Amino acid sequence: MEKVSKKISSANLIERDQKVVTPAIYRYTDVAFERGEGLFLYDFEGRKYYDFVAGIATMSVGHNHPRVVSAITDQAGKLLHAAAHVGYMQPYVEILEKLISLAPAPLNHGKGVLVNSGSEAVETAVKLARAVSGRSMVLAFMDSFHGRSMGALSLTASSSGYRRHLSPLLNGVEHVPYPYCFQCPFGHKNHTREDCCGQWKKFIQMTLDKLVHPDDLAAIVVEPILGEGGYVVPPDDFLQTLREVCDRTGAYLIADEVQTGMGRTGKWYAVEHWNVTPDIIALGKAIGGGLPLGAAIARSELMDAWWPAAHGSTFGGNPLACRAGLESIAIIEEENLLDNATKVGNFIQARFKAAQKDMPIIGDVRGKGLMIGVELLNRQGEPLKVDQVKHIIKDLGSNGVVMTKCGQSTLRIAPALTITETVADEGLNIILQVLKDTWTRL
Ligand SMILES: Cc1ncc(COP(=O)(O)O)c(C=O)c1O
Repeated sequence: MEKVSKKISSANLIERDQKVVTPAIYRYTDVAFERGEGLFLYDFEGRKYYDFVAGIATMSVGHNHPRVVSAITDQAGKLLHAAAHVGYMQPYVEILEKLISLAPAPLNHGKGVLVNSGSEAVETAVKLARAVSGRSMVLAFMDSFHGRSMGALSLTASSSGYRRHLSPLLNGVEHVPYPYCFQCPFGHKNHTREDCCGQWKKFIQMTLDKLVHPDDLAAIVVEPILGEGGYVVPPDDFLQTLREVCDRTGAYLIADEVQTGMGRTGKWYAVEHWNVTPDIIALGKAIGGGLPLGAAIARSELMDAWWPAAHGSTFGGNPLACRAGLESIAIIEEENLLDNATKVGNFIQARFKAAQKDMPIIGDVRGKGLMIGVELLNRQGEPLKVDQVKHIIKDLGSNGVVMTKCGQSTLRIAPALTITETVADEGLNIILQVLKDTWTRL
């Protein structure tokens, strides 16, 4: 008998969702997505939305790119899964070859392992650093986000809400301030990264002098640009300083490029902006081309010192996810999307900066490539409250633009790397109008 498919409405889906899905999953918009195509999402009534966050920086070549869909279909016809512990899979090898070849030297001769998510990738990196160094302590940063599984959460420090009632977490993790100059942890008001006070350096040294003996330090884990914590670009000497601390103490530098990686900032890896090579890089989000995939890559000596069966993951490196990722990388290369990310990213920043002159709600515009944060202020010049920003994001959703926030008071702009100036401009018109309307109510 022929199956009759019942057409559902957005309201109907949301109602059903609320009956079965935990409220622990917060929704930034009230939009129900039926399908996506390129730079746009569509709800069940066929309404079109400008997607300014691309599945939280995962859909780098846009929604349902025909080449990605056909790579997944092709792979589905050959092999869905067999598991890396059981034998060898071609897409697993090929995506690691690719990710490694794109990495800065000497990681471009490194080795890696595939997992299922960004959190798992970060935990993999920390496990590797601890296992190989035989040391236990890890330094991470306030405002950072490394995931929500218990190990990754031990590093995450962007909101105590994520940790509420969950302690004790992993032992041996200490946090030091990230140079978030616009909301300087050392009390300076509205600084930029160019006039950073540099106190964070003293804090790291003090931590090593008084709290964590350098001989015990296994790793420093850092986001080259803060993601969830507010899309904060650090001062130019930040990563270099961390590299020096690691070289001096023998600790490993772990770059969490889960959000910044795969071209988001206009380079394959964000660390390239500062010519710093970490020992280990954690990857996730966009590397799966829209399917779940994470990776940790490291210098060969480190990976080779990890003993057989020390790590693993049943679904890690699933062939469909690897093929989707490989196809996305090929498209980014062929269509010069790194250059596009830089070009359109600069265009978006320039429009916000021009609007800022007459719009005091726009406090700071920052970012690299298509990872752009717009921090919002109230009439007293203080950062907007989280709930006010959430309200703005809901308004944007009702007006046809999908995005999320990051940090307390920052709009997170992370569209697909395929975005054009024309589409960006249309979306920006809506965003700026919503910000103007918000200002009158503040
Ligand atoms: C920098 C960073 N690391 C790790 C994670 C965790 O990734 P996942 O949600 O895939 O576990 C995220 C997710 O937002 C992230 O932005």
